[in-house]
Order: sequence, then C-alpha cells, then structure tokens
Amino acid sequence: MPLVTTTEMFKKAYAGGYAIGAFNVNNMEIVQGICEAGNELNAPLILQVSKGAREYANPIYLKKLVEAALEDTGLPICLHLDHGDSFETCVSCIEGGFTSVMIDGSHLPFEENISLTRRVVQYAHDHGVVVEGELGRLAGVEDEVKVSAEDSSYTRPEEVQEFVDKTGVDSLAIAIGTSHGAFKFSGEPKLRFDILEKVAEILPGFPIVLHGASSVVPEYVKMINEYGGDLPGAQGVPEAMLRKAAEMAVCKINIDSDLRLAMTGTIRKFFAQNPSVFDPRAYLGPAREAIKQMVAHKIKDVLGCEDKA
Ligand code: G3H
Ligand code: 13P
Ligand code: ZN
Repeated sequence: MPLVTTTEMFKKAYAGGYAIGAFNVNNMEIVQGICEAGNELNAPLILQVSKGAREYANPIYLKKLVEAALEDTGLPICLHLDHGDSFETCVSCIEGGFTSVMIDGSHLPFEENISLTRRVVQYAHDHGVVVEGELGRLAGVEDEVKVSAEDSSYTRPEEVQEFVDKTGVDSLAIAIGTSHGAFKFSGEPKLRFDILEKVAEILPGFPIVLHGASSVVPEYVKMINEYGGDLPGAQGVPEAMLRKAAEMAVCKINIDSDLRLAMTGTIRKFFAQNPSVFDPRAYLGPAREAIKQMVAHKIKDVLGCEDKA
C-alpha cells in the first residue's frame, strides 16, 4: 500500500470516537519502534517530521525509512510535515512525497494566517496532499521557537468557521491549554473543553488536532531523574483528558515528548548499569523497545485506535 492521506483515517476516527496518534520521527529506531507497535496492534499511523527533524536527518533518509516501514507492515501510514513554517517548506515536502503538511501560521495576524494557509492548500490539493492549519497559539518549546505562557492564546471559536471556509484546510489544530515539551502545567492540569465543544458545534464532523499532547509519563521522568537527569516539575496532559478529547472532535493527537522521555530514560539507565559497553546497538535496541511499548500503550489506552487499520 502506498502512503495515504489522513482523509479516510479522520472520517473513521471522527465517527468512531477515537483518535490517530501522530508521532514525531527523527531516526531509524524511532520509526521502527512506532511501526512495530502499530503493526502488532493493527493501528493506522501518522509519522510526522518537523523542520528540526528534516535538518537533523536529511529528509531523504526519513522518507526512505518510512517507505521501509510501509513495506514491512502494510499499514495505512501518513507522512506528515509537523509545524511547516513557510510555503516553500510545504512545497518541498509535497515534492518529496509527503501526503500531509501542516502550515503553522498561528503566530501571524488572522488575515495573514488565512492567506498563507490558503496558498499552501491550493498547492497541496493540486498535488493530492491534505493540509492542517492552526488557530490559537500553544505555549512551550518547538525547535528554536519558545512561546511563553503570556504569548500563548486560546483558539477563538468565533474565528474557526471563517478560517476553514476561506482556507479550505482539511483539519485544524486548536489551542485549549496544552503546550509543547515536558512542562505543561505548573499546578492543576486544566484544558478548555468548552472551547473544543464550541468548535465542534460550529464545525460538525470536521477533524480537530491536538498538539502538545504528551502525558509526560511519570515512569520515565522518574527513570531520568533516578539516573542522573534533572526534570523537577515535569508534568503532562492526564490520559483521561486525552481520551475525552479523542471521543469528541479530536482526530489527531500529537506525541513527541513521551517518545523522547522513553528513549532517553532507557539509555540513561542502560549506561548507569553498563558503564563500559560502547556498542550502539546495545543501548539503541532497548530504547527502540521502550518507544514500541510507549506507542502500544498510547494506541490501546489513550487513542483507542487498536484494530482500526
Ligand atoms: O512540536 C514540536 C515537536 O515536538 C517537534 O520538535 O521541532 O524539536 O523536532 P522539534
Ligand atoms: P509534545 O511535546 O506534548 O509531545 O507535543 C508534540 C507536538 O505537538 C508535535 O507537533
Ligand atoms: Zn506541535
């Protein structure tokens, strides 16, 4: 099966009250860990590549790894650009065989976000590729861009209809209180489900995307802290909130930090226990297994997309 877009995946996910996991990929072990879990649980997958991942790995290597996963598993897999920052980046990904791109104009004034997003949509749709737009701004760290809590802003439901109509986007990322990275809340976790509900009312059947949706799984934060790391106060989105969002209009849930924590925690532990081993396979193997276990947990217990491939 060739790479697919998210159109069918989202239609089924919306109707079935579940979400598809969109997992960030940066190297072979991450791609393999995610796809092994997807394969065992027969789950559709979105593999997403950020600007930083493209710079780190060289897009052609990531594309070929994803093609290998496709051949190996036969799963429906979408290859998605995460946080596309310009028309040119989106075009480059579309030409490189991606089946979905995000154009992130959330930092721009409303009208400018519309015109940039519309330009990307026109090009993408002409090439059979789907587009995710974003309204509202998440706090947190992505690449070199740091958005402080004061500069973040919730999505304004009164803007979503006009945005979707004028841009023609296929899905919409909204800001309801999640943030990127491992420090999402300093007190009680709180998400604005009222905003999600209102958006769903205004755009019935339209797929919504949740970024910054790692739970910052305590087991791995503990592991990192236990083996020489220092992440005091790390806190993610409670899994019950993610399940609730998946039952509502959220069809795509973005997860990166949980994969990073699983991989790094496992490697830290390995070196603490095996200080003289220096074969990369000895520590990358368990790290890949930790990614697989993390993704399997997300598919079964959070996203609800087991057996939906
Ligand atoms: O939202 C951002 C993702 O976590 C990707 O992070 O830009 O450091 O690759 P990155
Ligand atoms: P996390 O940092 O919560 O994993 O979010 C990832 C994300 O939104 C990628 O676009
Ligand atoms: Zn994001």
